[in-house]
Amino acid sequence: MEGSFGLLREAVQATAAIYERVKSVITPEEWAGFAGDVLDILRLKRERNAIILAHNYMTPEIFHGVADLTGDSLALAREAAQTNASVIVVAGVHFMAETAKLLNPSRMVLTPDPAAGCSLADSITAEDVRALRQKHPGAPVVTYVNTSAAVKAESDICCTSGNVRKIVESLGASEVILLPDKYLAQNVAARTEVKIITWDGSCEVHELFTPEDIRLWRAKHKGLAVLAHLECPGGVVAEADFTGSTAGMIDWIGTHKPEKAMLLTEHSMSENIAAQHPGTTFVGPCRVCPHMKRITLKNIREALETLTHEVTVAEAIASRARQAVERMIAVR
Ligand code: 13P
Ligand code: SF4
Repeated sequence: MEGSFGLLREAVQATAAIYERVKSVITPEEWAGFAGDVLDILRLKRERNAIILAHNYMTPEIFHGVADLTGDSLALAREAAQTNASVIVVAGVHFMAETAKLLNPSRMVLTPDPAAGCSLADSITAEDVRALRQKHPGAPVVTYVNTSAAVKAESDICCTSGNVRKIVESLGASEVILLPDKYLAQNVAARTEVKIITWDGSCEVHELFTPEDIRLWRAKHKGLAVLAHLECPGGVVAEADFTGSTAGMIDWIGTHKPEKAMLLTEHSMSENIAAQHPGTTFVGPCRVCPHMKRITLKNIREALETLTHEVTVAEAIASRARQAVERMIAVR
């Protein structure tokens, strides 16, 4: 018994500098439960020549504790394309791991939980895209990265919430199919001359935010800065002070340093930014993505220990899907 307490004490001591970064959002008791896994993961990363790419929605012990790079979908894709690491662990949902594999096929890409999906990716199939093309001949297909590789393979180019308008306008077309998120598409349509045709997909987290949420919280907190992800419905975006990708929201907080802010996006983002910006208080409704939350320190450690679950994409799909993602990366 004393032996395991001793190990725990050692792990807590050895991770004290990391705990400093998250002490405003994780209690010492909670950290005692994380420290051993954090140490194991840091060791395994060295042994495997591995890196961890963590999306902004990861919990703080992952985001601040073990990640080598954090960011939005676009930043993770760019880093995956460039890394020399032998193993890439994607702490995010499945489409993010698939995108990493497309961009760096010679590396081993691991997902800690292959069941970490996405309601947008599940809303559309490759066959649906082929049918849309037939219905709108000549209109290029712009596909949000929150899709399967099979759907990307049917597309002309991909986009993320960080570059969608630029990608749509880069094509020089008067009409574009932008799928699968109807809200993201409507939000872009409101800000461009290009006619946008869309699909009936939505994010199960962001579609729940309402303009009433904003009014209610603004009434309670004078001077509240409201930031909404581009996947939120149009009425929400219209009343927000800033709209963009998760990385765009983080940058906005860093630049404007508001006293109080409400992020209309996945809950962990607020905690991750709060740990870095103690001068800002975060308020608002707590919405959690059940898919992102499947990724834990425990299954990241298991992934590195056992080198599972490897993500692969059949070459017939991969070559076409890669082209669509690489075209996006090439647009500056
Ligand atoms: P970002 O690319 O803005 O990080 O968005 C990804 C996502 O899944 C949002 O729900
Ligand atoms: Fe998909 Fe929404 Fe979860 Fe992002 S928050 S991974 S869009 S279900």
